[in-house]
Amino acid sequence: MKRLADKTALITGAARGIGLAFAKAYVAEGARVVIADIDGLRAQGAAAEIGDAALAVEMDVTSQHSIDEAVARTDSHFGPIDILINNAAVFTAAPVNEIDRSDYQRVFDINVAGTLFTLQAVARHMIQKGIKGHIINMASQAGRRGESLVTVYCASKAAVISLTQSAGLNLIEHGINVNAIAPGVVDGEHWDDVDAFFAKYERKPLGQKKREVSTAVPYGRMARAEDLTGMAVFLATDEAKYIVAQTYNVDGGNWMS
Ligand SMILES: NC(=O)c1ccc[n+]([C@@H]2O[C@H](COP(=O)([O-])OP(=O)(O)OC[C@H]3O[C@@H](n4cnc5c(N)ncnc54)[C@H](O)[C@@H]3O)[C@@H](O)[C@H]2O)c1
Repeated sequence: MKRLADKTALITGAARGIGLAFAKAYVAEGARVVIADIDGLRAQGAAAEIGDAALAVEMDVTSQHSIDEAVARTDSHFGPIDILINNAAVFTAAPVNEIDRSDYQRVFDINVAGTLFTLQAVARHMIQKGIKGHIINMASQAGRRGESLVTVYCASKAAVISLTQSAGLNLIEHGINVNAIAPGVVDGEHWDDVDAFFAKYERKPLGQKKREVSTAVPYGRMARAEDLTGMAVFLATDEAKYIVAQTYNVDGGNWMS
């Protein structure tokens, strides 16, 4: 028996990277997935690659209308949502003295408000449909402690850990489990962006920061997106039903908490 047989999952930011790996792992476990991403074209390509068990929806998590539409389209195409993964996020870095207010606002709109209001829309939907579902938020080791140059992104991911705790405590009375995953360093296009920021601010050649963080991981290498799928599947099953409001590190040993 597949572990997510007949479940419907909405995954934000799933056109590439970790979200796409989650979508593939969920389909392999029998789920139907909605690949929701602001990059609608790439979401379509990803869904086409997966097949009939995947639907692409262009969605901007900063827009309430877009969130509501993604929930409605998931429901009409596959049926009520059993699982939400709040995965869409953006990275930014700058020395404190150079942080730009509009960049702060953009990052918090996507990483924090996007997570909270997608969670809210899906929680309302689950309650209305009588679904005892699972919501997984993507936090980060960056939310566990500050990092020089990464003030805004770190704060946004600390907020994700915090809202996972409060929403998890609030929604468990409806049988909705809210938990989070805190990855360490995961190779992919996101980390190419991170590497470019460090190249700029630490005056390193492109690729050097990536090599440094890679060798610093106790496991011996950066994560691949596939290293996170086991936790994402587990947290979406009833095996995890007594786990409430937690954030799990999946980071090769980078952080203890
Ligand atoms: N890669 C890492 O090292 C790492 C480490 C810790 C945490 N994370 C977290 O894991 C999650 C996935 O990371 P990733 O490496 O796959 O990132 P990624 O940048 O490869 O993918 C993010 C996706 O989100 C989409 N997106 C951006 N803004 C959006 C919006 N407004 N609405 C909808 N979609 C939007 C992008 O188009 C992209 O497809 C993120 O929450 C990230 O913060 C990543």
